[in-house]
Formats: sequence, C-alpha cells, structure tokens
Amino acid sequence: MKKIIGLLIVSFGLIMFSAPTVFAASGASLFKANCSMCHAINGQGGKMAPNLSHIGSKMSLSALEAKIPTMPGKAGLPKSTVDSIANYLESLK
Ligand code: HEC
Repeated sequence: MKKIIGLLIVSFGLIMFSAPTVFAASGASLFKANCSMCHAINGQGGKMAPNLSHIGSKMSLSALEAKIPTMPGKAGLPKSTVDSIANYLESLK
C-alpha cells in the first residue's frame, strides 16, 4: 500500500512538473504557425515586426493577451490559442 501511495505522489509530481513545459511548447509551435512570418524570436522568424525574444520583460500576460487579437488577421484566433501564445511569450524574459 505504501508503495502505491508513493507511486501516486511521484506520478502526480511528474504531471504537475511537466504540464507547464507542455503548455509552453505548444505556445511555441502556435507562435511559429501564426506569428513568426512577421516576428522573430532568437533569430528565427520575420524581420518586418518587432523582435519578441525578450517580450516577457516588457509586456505582462494580460497586455499580451490583449495585443494578440489586434495583430493582422488574428482577430479570430480562439482564446485558448491566444492564451497559449501569451503564456509562451510571457516566459521570454
Ligand atoms: C503581418 C505581420 C504580423 C503578424 C502575422 C503578427 N504581428 Fe505582431 N506586430 C506586427 C507589427 C508590425 C507590430 C508593431 C506595431 C504594433 O505594435 O502594433 C507588432 C507588434 C506586436 C507586439 C508588441 C511588440 C512590442 O515590442 O511592443 C506583440 C507582443 C506582437 N506583435 C505579438 C504577435 C503575436 C503573438 C502574433 C501571432 C498571433 C503576431 N504578433 C502576429 C506585425 C505582425
């Protein structure tokens, strides 16, 4: 019984630990698909818009969430997509 409880605690810890990483990773791929034609991060992407490599130290999460739908052609992005990208960008300090 102790073993099972230990295992449960370990797997719960792993899930909690890995979830934000998965979130950030999908934010990164959503950014690539939707934004990188104009914006570069760490040298990868377009040059016609501001570089976003350190945007997390300039804009808050809520400012990013408000900004994304104002981008050309992005007014219709689902909120979940906007949130994933905003979380990813907010992590870039
Ligand atoms: C067609 C080109 C284009 C696309 C696509 C685009 N942007 Fe932009 N973005 C711009 C331009 C140009 C600016 C600068 C003018 C402005 O702030 O509105 C900008 C500004 C920004 C800023 C503010 C940067 C700063 O330093 O103030 C953020 C954040 C941003 N975009 C995020 C995104 C995200 C996230 C996406 C994808 C969902 C995206 N953009 C898609 C052209 C684009």
